Amino acid sequence: MGTANQISPASGKLGVLIPGLNGAVSTTFVAGTMLVRRKLAQPVGSLTQMGTIRLGHRHENRFPLIKEFVPLADLNDLVFGGWDIRNEDFFQSARDAKVLDERDLLPIREELGQLRPMHAVFEQHYVTRLNGTWVKQGKTKYDLAQMLREDIKAFKERNALDRLLMIWCGSTEIYIPVGDVHRDLGSFEKGMKENHPSIAPSMLYAYAAISEGVPYINGAPNLSVDTPALMQLAQATGVPIAGKDFKTGQTLIKTVIAPMIKARMLGLSGWFSTNLLGNRDGEVLDDPASFKTKEESKLSVLEGILQPELYPALYQNYHHKVRIHYYPPRGDNKEGWDNIDIFGWLGYPMQLKINFLCRDSILAAPIVLDLVLFADLAQRSGMTGVQEWLSFYFKSPMHAPAIVPEHDLFIQLMKLKNTLRHLMGEQPVTHVDTKENFVVEDILSYS
Ligand SMILES: NC(=O)c1ccc[n+]([C@@H]2O[C@H](COP(=O)([O-])OP(=O)(O)OC[C@H]3O[C@@H](n4cnc5c(N)ncnc54)[C@H](O)[C@@H]3O)[C@@H](O)[C@H]2O)c1
Repeated sequence: MGTANQISPASGKLGVLIPGLNGAVSTTFVAGTMLVRRKLAQPVGSLTQMGTIRLGHRHENRFPLIKEFVPLADLNDLVFGGWDIRNEDFFQSARDAKVLDERDLLPIREELGQLRPMHAVFEQHYVTRLNGTWVKQGKTKYDLAQMLREDIKAFKERNALDRLLMIWCGSTEIYIPVGDVHRDLGSFEKGMKENHPSIAPSMLYAYAAISEGVPYINGAPNLSVDTPALMQLAQATGVPIAGKDFKTGQTLIKTVIAPMIKARMLGLSGWFSTNLLGNRDGEVLDDPASFKTKEESKLSVLEGILQPELYPALYQNYHHKVRIHYYPPRGDNKEGWDNIDIFGWLGYPMQLKINFLCRDSILAAPIVLDLVLFADLAQRSGMTGVQEWLSFYFKSPMHAPAIVPEHDLFIQLMKLKNTLRHLMGEQPVTHVDTKENFVVEDILSYS
């Protein structure tokens, strides 16, 4: 990891390549960034754009904006591109997503209209509810990955880019567990040449990006880059990777409420989470095989936070259910319901009910922006492999095999900010208040 003076500057253009370019999350992110850089809207929800960071001791009163503290790419230097399985006009896709109002899309109509997806790598077997009409033809998966590499190189040259990164905003694929074909790079490359069924399209995008020295971020719960083979490739090529599954709605709430329950040593007997979702993502997740991928991602957080092995009396036997119902009238406006059965002193039961009326892509778009800017920062700072400090943004954070993932939102935020402090040669904030510095602070506040 570099220190302040080892971070290469964010000069030149940064290409943002998006598999799933014409989807709801991607169009909301791209259109939103265009509006923000024209100063027609505020980047609400973006830590990189609106967040501050405390430096030094509290009495120093140093709270710069994060974007002024670390050298992030300027929004005006972002150049968007990507792939989708339908050759749709980008403006029309943004309209069809029914997330942003016409009044927000019209001022940037021309700029949006310039974006067209490249032919995707897609197989319906992996996303059964979708039918691709704008897809590459290749004999083997290896050939398809090479075509993606050519796309990346051509995009870089066409747009005179300085740097690139790729962020998966494509659909959730069917559940694929880690198998022998993912164990190391040699097996993976052999598997691609033999069209192994456990190699999904998202893995080919990841392989292509990393082979080209381009950071890869996985916004879906797909296994994708979370395999020993691709982690090995990322280490070898010196590329940052991060994932998986943007933490936006119900899981965001879960990773705030569960630490509270645990902090107070309250017990949990059950957590029932259900969602109504009516967009294309909801339709894809209506297929049990894609839902299983999402379910695994959503279920993992509670156990990670509550640590039943350490607190058997409180958390050993809770029931955790997660459901997503495809209900078209709601579109992108998701409704999440949580019923939480807890127990307190002497085992007396209590309940918590949470009803989150959210907007899926409105919550996801600022996360995409932050991940793009932070992954680029990581690349310029020489940070390679899994970027655990970006766990803050993911439902199912990638982590080294020997350690457990961190799910608590505020620990994740502290980890992120301490990483930024470390990068810039500042002291981490530990919140340790010894008697001595308490007294010093007292004196200073009265002087
Ligand atoms: N919106 C959120 O809050 C949120 C949160 C966490 C994760 N996600 C995940 O982000 C992804 C995108 O969500 P969305 O709401 O934009 O869905 P969407 O269906 O609107 O968009 C997905 C896009 O990916 C395209 N696509 C599918 N397979 C592809 C392939 N192989 N190559 C290129 N394009 C491909 C589809 O055609 C579609 O345009 C989903 O996997 C979703 O589960 C979203």
